[in-house]
Amino acid sequence: MDVRGSVPERIQNIKTTVGEEKVISALSGGVDSSACTVLAHRAIGDNLKSIFIDDGLMREGEPQQVQKIFADLGIKVYVVDAADEFFAALKGKIDPEEKRKAFRDTFYTVFGREVRNSGARFLIQGTIAADIIETERGIKTQHNILEQIGIDPEAGYGFKVVEPIKDLFKPGVRQLAEAVGLPEEIHQRMPFPGPGLATRVVGEVTPERVARVRKATTIVEQEIAHLKPFQAFAVLLSDQGTGVEEGKRKFGDIMIVRSVESKDAMTAEPSHVPWEVLKKIAHRIVVEIPQVVRVAYEITPKPPATIEYI
Ligand code: XMP
Repeated sequence: MDVRGSVPERIQNIKTTVGEEKVISALSGGVDSSACTVLAHRAIGDNLKSIFIDDGLMREGEPQQVQKIFADLGIKVYVVDAADEFFAALKGKIDPEEKRKAFRDTFYTVFGREVRNSGARFLIQGTIAADIIETERGIKTQHNILEQIGIDPEAGYGFKVVEPIKDLFKPGVRQLAEAVGLPEEIHQRMPFPGPGLATRVVGEVTPERVARVRKATTIVEQEIAHLKPFQAFAVLLSDQGTGVEEGKRKFGDIMIVRSVESKDAMTAEPSHVPWEVLKKIAHRIVVEIPQVVRVAYEITPKPPATIEYI
């Protein structure tokens, strides 16, 4: 099927489903939610409210970049600054599963509040075919969104989830995203996990530690982008190591560089990054992030390792 040809029909389906009601869409900046938001906006214009929850765990400039990309398409995006709430929930948490749970609970609290305050009766969700399969296998819980944000679809005025791209797999979504005018930064975007940079901070997730890993991530992306890896990023360890600064020994952070090749993220191989590129990354990280004294390149495939660190 040529996905591009299905755009008018998808827009018409949204129109028919939601009529004159208000609709809310939560953008993550990923290709799925972006494609859905553009479709919905084409269908109903200003009856759509698009929000972007800034959890303080995004990459450099990401909330602004998403706002700009959508502004260029004539779509206003409301950024919900919830960083303090996320950091408060993550404070003192070391265990990876506790960190994930704290993130998830906070996300649903913030999202639920926004949905209720919006007065919307429909939620546009970027569920894709792989999400449905993974939900059936018990890996994901995307179908429970209303329950998770504390909305009973049977009660009161009724509330419905609309999933305009649930028949598509990722390559189809990318095609569709391109067809509706989204730029390459969105439709060819590297996967980025829901819990954001929290998955790349071993130990406590504090604003300071996130800032360090964010800076290192920018460096990795800048230096590695031309190699087009499946996913490349930096990880801050909780262990420390000794370095030398101005002739003095200094105990500081260890930053890991991870770059992997993969088709579907189920398995992955470390990328063959040229030595010169790795040396440049290591040099920039220790120079530009003073707390870091060591940089290591990770060469573990998945399995046994996962791609992210928590
Ligand atoms: P792992 O670390 O499990 O990651 O090998 C596989 C792929 O999934 C991404 N990932 C996530 N994506 N929410 C997401 O939306 C999450 O909690 C999450 N954890 C990992 C990861 O970046 C990789 O592409």
